[in-house]
Amino acid sequence: MDSASVELPRPPAHGKYDFHTNRPRQRKGAYIKCFCIALIVIILIALCINAIVLFVAFKKAHVPNFQVKNVQVSKFSVANVLTDQQKVLSTDLDFFFESDNKNPLVGVDFGNMVMDTSWDGVQAHLGETHVQNFVQKSKGVSKLKVSTKNEVELKKNVKPEDMKLKLSLSGDLKFFSGPFKTKLYPFMISCNDISSVSVNAACTSKMYNNGKKPEAPLKPKSPTPPQTPKVMPNDASPTAEGPTAEGPAAEEPADEPPSSPPAKSFPPVKLTVQDKYVIMDNGFLQATIAKPGGFVTGIKYNGVDNILDTVNPEDDRGYWDVVWAPPGTKGTKGNFQRIIGTDFRVILEKEEQLELSFKISYDPATGGKKVAPMEIDQRYVMLRGVSGIYAYGIFERAAWPAFGMPNARLAFKLQRQQFKYMVIADNRQREMPAPEDRMKNRAEELIYPEAVILKNPTDPQFKGEVDDKYQYSMESQDIRVHGWISKDPPTGFWQITPSYEFRSGGPNKQFLTSHVGPSTLAMFVSAHYSGEDLIPRFAEGEPWNHIYGPMFMYMNNVTTGQDLPLLWDDAKERMLSEVKQWPYSFPTSEDFPKANERVNVTGRFFVHDRYLSKEKGPARNAFIGLGPPGEAGSWQRDSKTYQFWTRTDQHGNFTISFVRVGSYNLHGWVDGFIGDFKHNVPINITVGQNVDVGEVVFEPPRDGPTLWEIGVPDRLAREFFIPDPNPKYVNKLYVNHPDRFRQYGLWERYAELYPKDDLVYDVNASDYSKDWFYAQVTRPLGGRYNGTTWSVKFNLDDVALDATYKLRLAIASATNSDLQIRFNKPKPSPPIFTTGKIGNDNSIARHGIHGLYWLYNVDVKGSELNKGSNTLFLTQSKGVSPFQGIMYDYLRLEGPPTSPK
Ligand SMILES: *[C@@H]1O[C@H](CO)[C@@H](O)[C@H](O)[C@H]1NC(C)=O
Ligand SMILES: *[C@@H]1O[C@H](CO)[C@@H](O)[C@H](O)[C@H]1NC(C)=O
Ligand SMILES: *[C@@H]1O[C@H](CO)[C@@H](O)[C@H](O)[C@H]1NC(C)=O
Ligand SMILES: *[C@@H]1O[C@H](CO)[C@@H](O)[C@H](O)[C@H]1NC(C)=O
Ligand SMILES: *[C@@H]1O[C@H](CO)[C@@H](O)[C@H](O)[C@H]1NC(C)=O
Ligand SMILES: *[C@@H]1O[C@H](CO)[C@@H](O)[C@H](O)[C@H]1NC(C)=O
Repeated sequence: MDSASVELPRPPAHGKYDFHTNRPRQRKGAYIKCFCIALIVIILIALCINAIVLFVAFKKAHVPNFQVKNVQVSKFSVANVLTDQQKVLSTDLDFFFESDNKNPLVGVDFGNMVMDTSWDGVQAHLGETHVQNFVQKSKGVSKLKVSTKNEVELKKNVKPEDMKLKLSLSGDLKFFSGPFKTKLYPFMISCNDISSVSVNAACTSKMYNNGKKPEAPLKPKSPTPPQTPKVMPNDASPTAEGPTAEGPAAEEPADEPPSSPPAKSFPPVKLTVQDKYVIMDNGFLQATIAKPGGFVTGIKYNGVDNILDTVNPEDDRGYWDVVWAPPGTKGTKGNFQRIIGTDFRVILEKEEQLELSFKISYDPATGGKKVAPMEIDQRYVMLRGVSGIYAYGIFERAAWPAFGMPNARLAFKLQRQQFKYMVIADNRQREMPAPEDRMKNRAEELIYPEAVILKNPTDPQFKGEVDDKYQYSMESQDIRVHGWISKDPPTGFWQITPSYEFRSGGPNKQFLTSHVGPSTLAMFVSAHYSGEDLIPRFAEGEPWNHIYGPMFMYMNNVTTGQDLPLLWDDAKERMLSEVKQWPYSFPTSEDFPKANERVNVTGRFFVHDRYLSKEKGPARNAFIGLGPPGEAGSWQRDSKTYQFWTRTDQHGNFTISFVRVGSYNLHGWVDGFIGDFKHNVPINITVGQNVDVGEVVFEPPRDGPTLWEIGVPDRLAREFFIPDPNPKYVNKLYVNHPDRFRQYGLWERYAELYPKDDLVYDVNASDYSKDWFYAQVTRPLGGRYNGTTWSVKFNLDDVALDATYKLRLAIASATNSDLQIRFNKPKPSPPIFTTGKIGNDNSIARHGIHGLYWLYNVDVKGSELNKGSNTLFLTQSKGVSPFQGIMYDYLRLEGPPTSPK
């Protein structure tokens, strides 16, 4: 169990800690330090001067300099023209804005663009106009390009040259300079007679310097039926009553997109393929995806041109990425690789469903050491009548070079002006700071860069609070819906994950969710709360195929601000309806088995601890699941396969639904009992054959009667004493909250509570919820850290000198720790047991209340013990970092075997 690692070096005084290596950052020679300080001072001065120059330049750049000088229509193309069947005319218009902005420091951006078009000489239903590709953050430019797309349905044929287009475009021009605040000037442009023959139409433009918006032009009439007043979406999904979990799955055709009800009341999904982008549109939303890159550059929804973060570059808004590690890479490090597809394919284009593929291929000849030796096929699916977009990724490799993958995820970053309220659970939701609040000028970095104190946030309500994305982590089994709410317009953006079968590490592996950005992540693989053990590693020539997803990016809206909380309620309901549809029937990939290609595994789970009861009893609400073949408990270190878990009912009965074909072991654990259950019969799943394993009985480790115990065996340290945070380090969300362990810096409280002597616990007199600190951390000592020794005092009326007693040591988390056990003879006597160096889960620093689970069963000779008073010494001997140490789950001393009940 020991992860082979070298002894850690001592940290420098006040050394900071490097999360990638889990080692203190190295101290170089003092001269390097001096040099660095000098360099930093010079850089700071340079930055200051630069900032002043920027600021002056920005202040000088007053409005008249930015009048729009000239608007030109450069291109007017008529595509898809006019067959008798398909009377659809689509036009592309490129505009160039010319301004006399000569200031190289000032940038221009667009926002809130709305366009209205009408045609002379054409009888048509007007389609929607999409404004896209406008230039972002262009500094010092005098020319800006805006592309638009317009589609109309013609009532009768007309000659292109007879058509005249009227157009008006309104929006905001935004100016920025370095970090300084944006100035915003609404504008309006109108062009009267654009025709296909005269491209350089004259247009008039107007800027509104008083900050008032021009009246928005009429929106083009929508091809959708007249909108009823906005209400919460009841289930608009065509799949809701389709082949769901309740249906007789075997009779459903596997590859048909959901068909009943056909949702004819919703517009068909529409695909527009352009040179560099593809656009998926189902009337609810319009998603623009880079072609062939496969990153989502824009989502138009609820009247907002782009609800993704337009401050970020296009490939940093909705994208897949991995961290991959060539063989020999140390720790959890690796190379960051954003997944940029190289091949675009339309997989399915029907009125009910679009599925697109953006694949990155791997060629061993050229891929070499530059990219991860695997192929990733990014798939996006849009369904008719469904307010959202599905994403899944097919990861595959053949006999290619070895590598490891410390991280894999799908990330969405939302419009920062809009999405400010984050919800990850009923009792974990709050107004969030803005991303700039975490910048150096507004925040102070704490002991690691992920955690900051907000010193001067844009919104003063956050002043003095800690922000740290790890405070919003969650167990895999609970990550089903999380996301963000915008007040104006009232909109929700949610990530719904109906199953965690594809995530690494089983049900209680913790992952990041949403955090300041505003970001929302779908994490599939990570070393968080686990360490290197959870990095999937592939040997040279080892093939692999794994599907992550599908996840559902769901968007909803309400009409008024008062109804904002309904967005979360609706998102939860929507999540339940997506869960019912799992496994989805729509993915076309054969790698994603449909309901009729999966089977159920049923059984009844019992637990029998012979020292607690004569008879076995049902394992209630216990975890039971199928993981890869391996030792008991091996599932928690598995990151390459699928796992299928459920909870038993009050009778211990369970059904593990929709298991994929494969070879598994049945694993489980039961809160209230130590240890891991593994059924000794391997389970092979083949199509069409449900498996009933019958009764399975877990006999948890137990050799004798309980002499004393501390805590509750549930793989968590949450029942122990969790201190209040230092008032300097508060996240208000977790004040008076059941998850008080998520506050920053609690590890520092130990040395404050126990300034000189370590914790002493008396099994008769102490109360573990008050007297057992939730983590055995280190003690700071002049810039270094020392391990600590905790003592457990207990009394024995009798001791059988020749008998063997048993110490059960269940550990909920370990970080670079070595736990030594001694009875009655303190250091420097040799320990009777040591764990050796274990753990790298970092759960103390990351405010988890557990990491990986470890169970040690230590034999204690009667001769080690005293009749009368005894002391157990628990020494965590390593001292390198402030949040190194052990979280205990539970301790128990068992007497020698007697006749059980
Ligand atoms: C807002 O929600 C309503 C109710 O579900 C829906 O009909 C409407 O299409 C939504 N608006 C947008 C822009 O999707
Ligand atoms: C498996 O169980 C689910 C309910 O959990 C049910 O809908 C499905 O039909 C079952 N599948 C088979 C193959 O029996
Ligand atoms: C539990 O399962 C057993 C068989 O495994 C069955 O006889 C019993 O009826 C089930 N009980 C309930 C409440 O479902
Ligand atoms: C299960 O499958 C594995 C390999 O696929 C095979 O070696 C094993 O014999 C099978 N076991 C049973 C019980 O069918
Ligand atoms: C701290 O650790 C060092 C090295 O192991 C040891 O020499 C020293 O006595 C310890 N100090 C305390 C106060 O425990
Ligand atoms: C608890 O206290 C009682 C009475 O003082 C004593 O008899 C017993 O041995 C103690 N138990 C332990 C485990 O220390």
